[in-house]
Amino acid sequence: MLPLAFVCLLLLRLVVDTTATATPPPELYSPLISSKILAIAQNESDPPTYPQYTDRVAGIWQYFSPNTWTSGFFPVLQYAMNTRAELCNESDGNSWVELGRQWSTGLIPLETNNTLQHDVGFVSMPFQEEYYFNRMNQTAIDAITAFAADLDARFSPIVGCTRSWDTPDEPTWFEVIIDNMMNLELLFIGADITGNDTYRQHAISHANKTMINHIRPDGSTYHLVNYNADTGAVISQGTHQGYSNSSTWTRGQAWGIYGFSNMFNRTRDPNYIITARRLAKYFVDHIPQDGVVPWDFNAPLYPPRPADSSAATIASAGLLFLANMEKSLTPPNNTGYDIWTRHAIQILADTTALAWKPEWQSLLSNGTVNNPASPPNNLTGIVYGDYYYVKAGNDLISMGLAECHDHVASRSFGSL
Ligand SMILES: *[C@@H]1O[C@H](CO)[C@@H](O)[C@H](O)[C@H]1NC(C)=O
Ligand SMILES: *[C@@H]1O[C@H](CO)[C@@H](O)[C@H](O)[C@H]1NC(C)=O
Ligand SMILES: *[C@@H]1O[C@H](CO)[C@@H](O)[C@H](O)[C@H]1NC(C)=O
Ligand SMILES: *[C@@H]1O[C@H](CO)[C@@H](O)[C@H](O)[C@H]1NC(C)=O
Ligand SMILES: *[C@@H]1O[C@H](CO)[C@@H](O)[C@H](O)[C@H]1NC(C)=O
Ligand SMILES: *[C@@H]1O[C@H](CO)[C@@H](O)[C@H](O)[C@H]1NC(C)=O
Ligand SMILES: *[C@@H]1O[C@H](CO)[C@@H](O)[C@H](O)[C@H]1NC(C)=O
Ligand SMILES: *[C@@H]1O[C@H](CO)[C@@H](O)[C@H](O)[C@H]1NC(C)=O
Ligand SMILES: *[C@@H]1O[C@H](CO)[C@@H](O)[C@H](O)[C@H]1NC(C)=O
Ligand SMILES: *[C@@H]1O[C@H](CO)[C@@H](O)[C@H](O)[C@H]1NC(C)=O
Ligand SMILES: *[C@@H]1O[C@H](CO)[C@@H](O)[C@H](O)[C@H]1NC(C)=O
Repeated sequence: MLPLAFVCLLLLRLVVDTTATATPPPELYSPLISSKILAIAQNESDPPTYPQYTDRVAGIWQYFSPNTWTSGFFPVLQYAMNTRAELCNESDGNSWVELGRQWSTGLIPLETNNTLQHDVGFVSMPFQEEYYFNRMNQTAIDAITAFAADLDARFSPIVGCTRSWDTPDEPTWFEVIIDNMMNLELLFIGADITGNDTYRQHAISHANKTMINHIRPDGSTYHLVNYNADTGAVISQGTHQGYSNSSTWTRGQAWGIYGFSNMFNRTRDPNYIITARRLAKYFVDHIPQDGVVPWDFNAPLYPPRPADSSAATIASAGLLFLANMEKSLTPPNNTGYDIWTRHAIQILADTTALAWKPEWQSLLSNGTVNNPASPPNNLTGIVYGDYYYVKAGNDLISMGLAECHDHVASRSFGSL
């Protein structure tokens, strides 16, 4: 039996006005963003450790060794702050780059010694940003080259994918997770830098296999596909971090929207934008009326299911990427651009209303790192949730859909 109050709440949600205007939330450009990030950035430890998630009560960052899949996100957040400073014509950009570089230094030993598996792609992100900032930076070139070779060595021509996770106890298994779509960009930039087109072909093969085996007919995704390493046959399709093997883990769905938009940008193969749209449509169609992105779309409503604000911000950045890809078509698909942009802004507004936490060290609360873990790790701040929040905010500025400061009214943008 559901308690009466909960049922009433559910009914209330069903009558919430859906014609509201989607407006970029002013918090997205609050001065608190730079002051919070700066305070943490100026507290660098020796040897270096990296914030990943906060505790659930006071929002204090918990620190992890560089050899952790998330350690690139705090440095790349500082490069995102430089991008923001540049977009807003502020003068403090260089100091953000200097901080981003300092925080990247602790990642350099990982080039020759890591247990990151496919996550070398995430950890390489600050070096990718440094490379775009200064294409002559040999440290960044060396890091990208080493991490790309590391990822490419995980490619199997039998399976047609890069291996996500090692399974030493199960030598015939070859596990691939949807998250891995995010790391294919490392192979593209690796191909650009080394001139080795094999990396690019491997990324395309991986994306093609993922289109076939990770995506269900309704546009939802499996988190995990296990292939037979010797034959390439699919052994099983299911989940690791989601609610069930047949459910849709929201963060995985969000990685997919972003990853396939990136594949389209890199190749212009129409199948990739079609796939990104299918994933995006499933995501936005399954957000409940209250606008809260749950940690898994199929997690039961009761007991109240934790949100995942990181899935929400990754999806927002992915939808803005997809919107830009729609606009890049010939002729531009302005309808698609409008649809995805409005949804991205709506998700950012709803997520801000839920999770903006001035009193925490993180920007946002209500992130779910891993709910099936024992004990569940939910309702924290998360470093990649904060990163994609800032990135989506930057993208809205560069798209001309928002302005820089909270004292300047953000532009409203149509209605859903
Ligand atoms: C500074 O960072 C260390 C870990 O590197 C952490 O233990 C400490 O709590 C941080 N201090 C503040 C004020 O955030
Ligand atoms: C930044 O400066 C450029 C060039 O002067 C101008 O076009 C742009 O509108 C300015 N952006 C902001 C956010 O003030
Ligand atoms: C190149 O980037 C690295 C970090 O990736 C940084 O430590 C170094 O200072 C940069 N070098 C130059 C010349 O900018
Ligand atoms: C490799 O990294 C681990 C920590 O992740 C460290 O304990 C070990 O000493 C490193 N090995 C070398 C050869 O640097
Ligand atoms: C390109 O990369 C592939 C895969 O890592 C490797 O086998 C090949 O030797 C490389 N080609 C060149 C010209 O370096
Ligand atoms: C990937 O799929 C595209 C069609 O979407 C096809 O043209 C291409 O040959 C495929 N490449 C690989 C390596 O599977
Ligand atoms: C998913 O299926 C696997 C077998 O393929 C099973 O071991 C696992 O317990 C299932 N996970 C859930 C969450 O039901
Ligand atoms: C698309 O890819 C090109 C390289 O082909 C890159 O310069 C550009 O930044 C990418 N666009 C986005 C939005 O990532
Ligand atoms: C959001 O987090 C707060 C605590 O930080 C919690 O009370 C609330 O139930 C959470 N809401 C959802 C939908 O996760
Ligand atoms: C434009 O985008 C929408 C939404 O992604 C899509 O349904 C439609 O097919 C696209 N139209 C064209 C002409 O590509
Ligand atoms: C969220 O995490 C807490 C702490 O680990 C746990 O007690 C709770 O059951 C989790 N919530 C749900 C709905 O799984």
